[in-house]
Amino acid sequence: MSATTSNPKVLAFVEEARALFKPESVYWCDGSKVEYQQILKALVDSGTAQWLNPAKRPNSIIVRSDPADVARVEDQTFICSKAKEDAGPTNNWADPAEMKATLSKLYDGAMAGRMMYVVPYSMGPVGSPIARIGVMVTDSAYAVANMHIMTRVGTKVLNALGQSEDFVRGMHTVGAPLPTQGTADVPWPCSKTKYITHYPETREIWSYGSGYGGNALLGKKCHALRIASVQARDEGWMAEHMLILKLTNPEGRSKFIAAAFPSACGKTNLAMLNPTIPGWKAETVGDDICWMKFGADGRLYAINPETGFFGVAPGTSDESNYNAMRTLNANCIYSNVALTDNGDVWWEGMGAPPAHAVDWLRRSWTPSSGRPSAHPNSRFTAPAGQCPVIAKEWEDPNGVPIDAILFGGRRASTVPLVSEALNWQHGTFLGSIMASEKTAAAADTKGDMRRDPMAMLPFCGYHMGDYFAHWLKMGEKGGAKMPKVFYVNWFRKSAAGKFLWPGFAENSRVLKWIFERCDGTAQAVDTPIGRLPAEGSLDVNGLNVDAASMAELLKVDKEGWKAEIPSIKEHFATFGAKLPKGLTDELASLETRLAS
Ligand code: OXD
Ligand code: MN
Repeated sequence: MSATTSNPKVLAFVEEARALFKPESVYWCDGSKVEYQQILKALVDSGTAQWLNPAKRPNSIIVRSDPADVARVEDQTFICSKAKEDAGPTNNWADPAEMKATLSKLYDGAMAGRMMYVVPYSMGPVGSPIARIGVMVTDSAYAVANMHIMTRVGTKVLNALGQSEDFVRGMHTVGAPLPTQGTADVPWPCSKTKYITHYPETREIWSYGSGYGGNALLGKKCHALRIASVQARDEGWMAEHMLILKLTNPEGRSKFIAAAFPSACGKTNLAMLNPTIPGWKAETVGDDICWMKFGADGRLYAINPETGFFGVAPGTSDESNYNAMRTLNANCIYSNVALTDNGDVWWEGMGAPPAHAVDWLRRSWTPSSGRPSAHPNSRFTAPAGQCPVIAKEWEDPNGVPIDAILFGGRRASTVPLVSEALNWQHGTFLGSIMASEKTAAAADTKGDMRRDPMAMLPFCGYHMGDYFAHWLKMGEKGGAKMPKVFYVNWFRKSAAGKFLWPGFAENSRVLKWIFERCDGTAQAVDTPIGRLPAEGSLDVNGLNVDAASMAELLKVDKEGWKAEIPSIKEHFATFGAKLPKGLTDELASLETRLAS
């Protein structure tokens, strides 16, 4: 299909990419269902994908990548701001001109013998005041198929863009040209050399060498977090690594909650949980990214900029996430999972293993093989609309009003099950010191903590000190209308190393307390670390946790917090003069409260 816009900036961008990459042909995606099916067929015909058994998983494919291309490559991810200072201490930086010179050499002719797809996409409902548009070129049909599920793709996006220059320019190639006609392709073309680079000032993304996940689906981490966080700072909104869920009480009143957790803390599971408390209902708006903007009433309204779930497969089961399992029944792409002999998929933690399967490396596998059948970062790509608990508002162009923001990490000690921040500044402080410990029992020590502020460590497109300042500025602007902030920890352990809290669906009890705090009905007590549930205010009816464990879960561990102050200071020191005073003030206040 030839160009479907007359927008000169889009045409110039595509022509520049064509001249550089020198593809065999150029194809403009229209975003139709027919086109999606053609791309799946092309993936199967080229040997990249296989159809799954249609009686088990209709219209779904399995793809196995090159073993050297299985995850986001953080070491090779760069923020190429003009000034090094603007990338900050937590990002790799490279001079934009130098990085483009390096990449231009690699890009030259990189699509020889391949088709260049032009993918116009919208992050957020097309035409929504919170949505943003991108145009991505790529030689990966796999990336295009995933973009079809994860974003809104096609001519409708170009129509919404009209003649505007306001779009993010994304260039992606797997870096595996087929220079002579008839050169045999491999099932998963990619390059040993990989670069994922961002140019925040010019809103560009240049990605080279990888076809997998966030390296290649440029709408996701590259656009919706790294570039969008910069746009959000410049324009007064927020681009966050958060799920969004809708919680409805037995009287039928709803609140919307956004929550940030580092990887491997169960974000997708929380986004889709089935509450265990009678009469309460939870529904999903999004599981990974949340864009928030002030509405006319002064409150923060959020959209999920994506249209799909790109979830980690291992550990997903009827027990851990019943609704995700139902979402996966049809129309999905499975990457790096195992293929069973009856043409279905399997992964560790899904349930009873098959007697035999072909593993993610296409080797014969049985439960006694002594190795996992699916790669730990194997994924499903699933249309969000298929989720049985998708909220009816999930595509509302105006977004949903956010009542509460949750931060959390995996902490064996110190951090209680839930606490409420004293105010927005204190909440920002709690987000800024968020941390997760390694999960293996031996690693559950304070020394093994990784601080991951707001779960944005790999995703903030600018200096994190400025990012904290932006959070504080948003709080000044929103005043009393800002969401309440809570810090949760589902992972606290006993001295014997056992989880004290059952987690998963039982987390709905904590959500209920949060809902009622927002309503002003649940009681809390002020403590040095924030507000904790007052005796009897957390609903433990029918919960199988003994009183001693509950007391431990809600304990204010003053000594633990005091012991943590030096590591918070060390963490804050990395941001130098950019650390906002509001956060040093909060740290000083915490020390004073702990000392009293
Ligand atoms: C993701 C991640 O894939 O956070 O969502 O790494
Ligand atoms: Mn994520």
